[in-house]
Amino acid sequence: MADLGIEFAGLNCMSPFILASAPPTATGEMIQRAFEAGWSGAVTKTIALEPAIDARPRLARLAMANRTIGLENIELISQRNLDTWVKDIEEIKRQYPDHVLFASLMAAVAMEEWHSLIKQVEEAGVDGLELNFGCPHGMPEKGMGSVQGQDPTIAGDITRWAKEIATVPVMVKLTPNVTDIVQIGEACEEAGADAISAINTVSALIGIDLDRLEPLPSVGGISALGGYSGPGVKPIGLRCVAQLAKGTDLPLSGIGGIARWQDAAEYILVGASTVQVCTAVMLQGYGIVEKMKKGLSAYMDEKGFQSVGEMRGEVLPKITSHEELDFAHKVVAAIDEALCSRCGLCHTACMDGGWQAIEMESREVYPRVVIERCDGCSLCTLVCPVEGCITMVPLQTRQHS
Ligand SMILES: Cc1cc2nc3c(=O)[nH]c(=O)nc-3n(C[C@H](O)[C@H](O)[C@H](O)COP(=O)(O)O)c2cc1C
Repeated sequence: MADLGIEFAGLNCMSPFILASAPPTATGEMIQRAFEAGWSGAVTKTIALEPAIDARPRLARLAMANRTIGLENIELISQRNLDTWVKDIEEIKRQYPDHVLFASLMAAVAMEEWHSLIKQVEEAGVDGLELNFGCPHGMPEKGMGSVQGQDPTIAGDITRWAKEIATVPVMVKLTPNVTDIVQIGEACEEAGADAISAINTVSALIGIDLDRLEPLPSVGGISALGGYSGPGVKPIGLRCVAQLAKGTDLPLSGIGGIARWQDAAEYILVGASTVQVCTAVMLQGYGIVEKMKKGLSAYMDEKGFQSVGEMRGEVLPKITSHEELDFAHKVVAAIDEALCSRCGLCHTACMDGGWQAIEMESREVYPRVVIERCDGCSLCTLVCPVEGCITMVPLQTRQHS
């Protein structure tokens, strides 16, 4: 059996699966239940010197066929005060000494504030710190959260202040709402950060209630921009982690849209050592972790990876610059008539969004690929409702078959 244990920034994690700073880690009682359910670690809901006051409601979703594609929240940091958190942290560590507990922290650009927070959570017994440089709503207006993570000088300064007094590893949680996340990662690395987690939520406006003419989530008729999370942000999270893995030497904790073992595997393959989960747990509960651990372990066995460390970054060398792609590599579409339902979706898509290379006179006949016109874009494979019916094959194979 593959070893799911992983050393992360000097901490021993029983598995890569950690709960992200969010509602599922809002109290000590919740974190203890999560550990019982199989999570190897948790990052507390963000703690500050002053607790937050939240708007209600503060969640809205983007759904397709009633499946949540993404969630937007306008939630702030923890509503609980520092003293309560100190007691919770002490109790969690007393009950679960072998689980990894990070305190997520947020403060103004003021050294004394960061030092005060760090001292108190460290004395309570946390194993690591996560500096929240990523919250994109509510807190930036107060000079905190993503405004700190959008400025390499500020992010570097705060990381340096934290490292001056911290005796446990310091992880910085970065925002994707920047032009170049690597620049911010490098600044934190230079300032002594021990690890990076990415991503926090993506700045968003989830939608408009067309009947009421109100933005969502509507707080008595008005709203504010919020943070987008869940399956829809996974490509952004993966991109950021891949970029940070290439651009820095720090251990990475991948976050964003992780709901299944496959998502976690993808993050590890592009360079993450651990992964953090929020939205999937909010929607499905702590129990999803057991399935994710089993699935990842079975996948590692199948692929011959003995450990997470061995698997980490395996796909990274294959992510290259566009100009290095092989432009001589040519593929064309091939339709398997045995599977084709003659729905015509490939024909329509190719006519109006492709290269007019799929002919279909009527629903009575099978669509036919005109090889000379097919440019190999693969749009038809994406619209075809039947798995495996349309595939992209090397041009030579197709010409000789
Ligand atoms: C309702 C909600 C509250 C959140 N609160 C925090 C927070 O207090 N601190 C923080 O660093 N991130 C917070 N996040 C961001 C998550 O930790 C995570 O970075 C983001 O949701 C992407 O992961 P996911 O797609 O698994 O949800 C919050 C996310 C949601 C949905």
